[in-house]
Amino acid sequence: MGGRRTNLALLFLLALAFLTGWVAFALFGWPSRLVLVVHALAGIGLLLLVPWKSLIARRALSRRRRPRVWWASLVLGLGLAISLVFGFLHSAGRWSVGGDLTAMEFHVGAAVCILPFAAWHVLARPVRVRLRRAELAAFLTRRSFLRLGAFGAAAAGGLLVLPQARRSPSGSYELGSFTPSEMPGTQWMFDPVPVVAPDAYSLSVGARRVAYEELAGFSDGVRCQLDCTGGWYATQDWEGVNLARLLGPPPAWAASIVVRSVTGYSRRFPVGSLPALLLAVRAGGAPLDPAHGFPVRLVAPGRRGFWWVKWVSSVELDALPDWWQPPFPLQ
Ligand code: HEM
Ligand code: HEM
Repeated sequence: MGGRRTNLALLFLLALAFLTGWVAFALFGWPSRLVLVVHALAGIGLLLLVPWKSLIARRALSRRRRPRVWWASLVLGLGLAISLVFGFLHSAGRWSVGGDLTAMEFHVGAAVCILPFAAWHVLARPVRVRLRRAELAAFLTRRSFLRLGAFGAAAAGGLLVLPQARRSPSGSYELGSFTPSEMPGTQWMFDPVPVVAPDAYSLSVGARRVAYEELAGFSDGVRCQLDCTGGWYATQDWEGVNLARLLGPPPAWAASIVVRSVTGYSRRFPVGSLPALLLAVRAGGAPLDPAHGFPVRLVAPGRRGFWWVKWVSSVELDALPDWWQPPFPLQ
């Protein structure tokens, strides 16, 4: 394979792996699995290109006039290797790295860290990304389709022979179902676990304030699965108050519900999802512990963990649509 074609294939697969990773994070259950198959194929495809890319890299590095910041390309390679290793470890069943840290966190962390290096690598080099018409015509030949098919088959073969531990469609491992204290205390990114004194706490619902004691007096419940993007899931019996009961029927102008944490973390939901949302004060019959959202956390069935706002401080209706927010929290 020519150097340019190898580099363009790397660019395509890297972008595909990165994008499908985030799409899988946004989805729940089987739709997530569908995307993750493409994700895994892209990742294995990157690995299959190593022999061709090594030739390009060795040629460039052995020239008398080496690229000035050649080490940054090696950082890119190292970061990609770290991400791949932790991706494979996760899928093979080694989901824990120690403490509350998971292989998935390292997998995604390394992928995010190499982003600037990848952008620099492509932008600082004379790479023509647009295909010429003649190149496109050459691409549409039977021979290149056969080659593409063989490449796809090799990636699929790789996926079949790699160890795959039993896990949920989203890739998560079951951990602490019906034993809330055994769930890891994962945060989305940098949220510290706040200590909230229940007698000093009240929840702001529109213009009203509701004390913890009043919230703890409700016993609406739901049994559902918390599927964390850190790579684990747990089913619990959550108990508290249905949000619809606290808010009442939403006025016609309301398009979304904003649920905010004492840490400033927030998520915006479509107003139509109101009947499904619960503000939980207990899991498995016991009050939540601080890492899992004491005094009050949101339970959002059918949504990944980053929607389940912990340490809820306020709930308010808003006229803005629910998509008016970054697709993933930035905090
Ligand atoms: C997937 C991760 C990639 C890794 C680990 C990687 C690594 C490297 C390394 C180590 C070199 C030699 C040192 C240097 O020139 O800085 C290199 C050269 C190069 N890479 Fe990459 N690269 C990757 C992806 C890409 C992509 C996506 C493109 C463009 C679309 C690209 C285009 C180039 C070019 C044009 C050269 C210079 C070749 C030469 O001067 O002969 N690389 N790459
Ligand atoms: C540099 C970019 C990335 C590459 C090359 C990559 C590659 C891979 C590979 C090879 C696997 C193992 C697949 C298997 O053996 O079944 C994997 C797993 C996974 N990756 Fe990535 N990944 C990247 C970035 C991301 C990002 C940014 C996310 C999420 C935001 C993500 C989410 C996942 C998930 C959830 C799994 C587990 C899939 C499962 O359990 O079947 N990845 N990735």
